Amino acid sequence: MSSIRLDKFISERTEYSRSQIKELAARGQIKLDDAVVKRSDIKIDPDKAAVIVCGKAVSSDLYRYILLNKPQGYVSSTDDKDGKTVMELIPPELRTKGMFPAGRLDKDSLGALLITNDGELAHRMLSPKSHIPKIYIVKLDRPYEDKYVDIFKNGVELKDGEMCLPAKVRNVENCEKLAFIELFEGKYHQVKRMFAAVGNHVEVLMRVSLGGLVLPEKLGFGEHMELLHKDVENLFLPTDFDLFCSRFSAVFSANLINK
Ligand code: URA
Repeated sequence: MSSIRLDKFISERTEYSRSQIKELAARGQIKLDDAVVKRSDIKIDPDKAAVIVCGKAVSSDLYRYILLNKPQGYVSSTDDKDGKTVMELIPPELRTKGMFPAGRLDKDSLGALLITNDGELAHRMLSPKSHIPKIYIVKLDRPYEDKYVDIFKNGVELKDGEMCLPAKVRNVENCEKLAFIELFEGKYHQVKRMFAAVGNHVEVLMRVSLGGLVLPEKLGFGEHMELLHKDVENLFLPTDFDLFCSRFSAVFSANLINK
């Protein structure tokens, strides 16, 4: 592997600019393989170097994948003109330049949101051609009705006349107002508009899986975890909606019951 400049290595993997990196080095805030380095223009091997900036290790990976369990009240954007953004929930040492939420959850929605700087993967994931299924659990205003299964399976017509692709829905046992829904597309406010089209209303919505990537039980609202590229590839694995619902219904319904 060819060597690269230390400041280039750090600036590509953190939010620091090259001038900030130069200053940090001069102040003794940068370590290379356990030794303080005072200059940021030295060459390093990006695969072998252990770089620490202000006490935090800088990962050698260029691409970062963060799975966030989004809480309510944050917008899925990098631009804070509409309020607090999900980016604020990611600690600075994990926030690489060029990171953005791959996909959207409404400000009042909860659950799985992938934040990355890998544009190619985000494109693959969000492309309508990929048909990545997304599963949500919803708390409804009125009891779930069995008729939703066929209506959603045949492609429900939204109130403005827009047609949805076939989707799957299933109620949560012993919870008459909780349901799981699986979509293969992502229209604006789609889940809320689908339930509105059948005369119900979504009170709380939480995304619990993106393709084969399931929101880990241990991840509380507002918490995040870093994923490896090989874990992110789970996005593209096939899913089994019925199996998912039986397996995770207790876990995820507990999250929504008191919301
Ligand atoms: N559908 C919605 O209505 N809202 C979301 O946040 C996601 C899907």
